[in-house]
Amino acid sequence: MVELILKKRKGFELSKDEYTSIIEGFISGDIPDYQVSSFLMAVYFNGMSSEETANLTDIMMHSGEVIDLSAIEGIKVDKHSTGGVGDKTTLILAPLVAAAGVPVAKMSGRGLGHTGGTIDKMESIKGLSVELSRTDFIAHIKKHNIALCGQNANLVPADKKLYALRDVTGTVDNISLISSSIMSKKLACGADAIVIDIKVGHGAFMKTVKDAEALAEMMISIGSRMNKSVTAVITSMNEPLGLTIGNALEVKEAIDTLKGNGPDDLTDLCLELGSRMLVLAEVAKTHDEGVEILKKLIASGAAFAKFKELVAAQGGDLSVIEEPDLLPRSQFSYEYKSNSEGYISELNALDIGIASVKLGAGRETKASHIDHGAGIILKKKIGDAIKKNEVLAMLYSNSESNFEKAQALMDAAYTVSKEKPAYKPLILKTIQ
Ligand code: URA
Repeated sequence: MVELILKKRKGFELSKDEYTSIIEGFISGDIPDYQVSSFLMAVYFNGMSSEETANLTDIMMHSGEVIDLSAIEGIKVDKHSTGGVGDKTTLILAPLVAAAGVPVAKMSGRGLGHTGGTIDKMESIKGLSVELSRTDFIAHIKKHNIALCGQNANLVPADKKLYALRDVTGTVDNISLISSSIMSKKLACGADAIVIDIKVGHGAFMKTVKDAEALAEMMISIGSRMNKSVTAVITSMNEPLGLTIGNALEVKEAIDTLKGNGPDDLTDLCLELGSRMLVLAEVAKTHDEGVEILKKLIASGAAFAKFKELVAAQGGDLSVIEEPDLLPRSQFSYEYKSNSEGYISELNALDIGIASVKLGAGRETKASHIDHGAGIILKKKIGDAIKKNEVLAMLYSNSESNFEKAQALMDAAYTVSKEKPAYKPLILKTIQ
């Protein structure tokens, strides 16, 4: 291992066999964490070629179960978001795209830190089970064209262990390491093609469009080396997506969007990503055709009907879907008001994400309990005019003392200017 650390430290490429020995030794415990940490830091500074990155992806992907979806007909297209605040697109896209005839085999994660996770959101629906056996997962997709479940411990265990080490050694934000981590999980889930939503901005890993482009190119290159089509959409995460942050609040907003009554930014992003999925699945010939198909499925009620079918199939209580006001809502509410007037020119997604965690909507540690009814409803977003004392957001929590903890973050999140800020687009670039 010392030789391999030195080789990477000097900037040389490592062979696939050398990566295999590192990953195998790391998982078995033969190579100690301190040597893998040192190797990761050498990778952080010297990078990895696209061949090295594809090799590492392949080795990690095969470190655990690789799901075989070949029993399901059609091109299986997965979607991934690099993580954001208020990002409930999977809840909308999965049924929307399934309603268009694309089989959706979705495995999702839980939230950690300031970004939420689809599985936590789904669990705010009473009775809904996100634990499906492999046989049931495939049977549900065959019957309903859709299933959504959590990732089990046997899916890419190498990434679990490596990510935990990266997290505490300052080596998370490296493009090769992020790409191999994400792609190994998507490929292990059996995807034939993948749409990746790469977030850029305050609330995201990638802080500049240039870095997001480099990440996109790397993931596309891994995909093409493994014969999988990848489309990357680079989108802004400077302000939260939609108007809600918090599990049950986001489910309600997803339902509104599936019925055609969602906020514009969320709806536009779902149409963009969904249409890219339809093109990869060969259900639409062009992006514009895909958008038209999806709009019709929303207008006809077919997309919402597919969401209800998903919830019912997984044991969820349909009455809360028909009447979303019955979804969990925390006991206490607080009106967060403006102390100045003008236009909102910034609404920092990171601060808002952390504020929602303080209210109980997310986990501060892996073991923290989630309050499904906690969170934030934004009443105003970037570009909106505001008056002094106007309510900017509603906060929800089961403990009134949490409002104090969230207050400073809310104060920091807003920047108010005299002039209306220039419009900044949400969808920045698509690369395929
Ligand atoms: N998400 C992942 O799954 N892996 C990373 O390395 C970063 C974000």
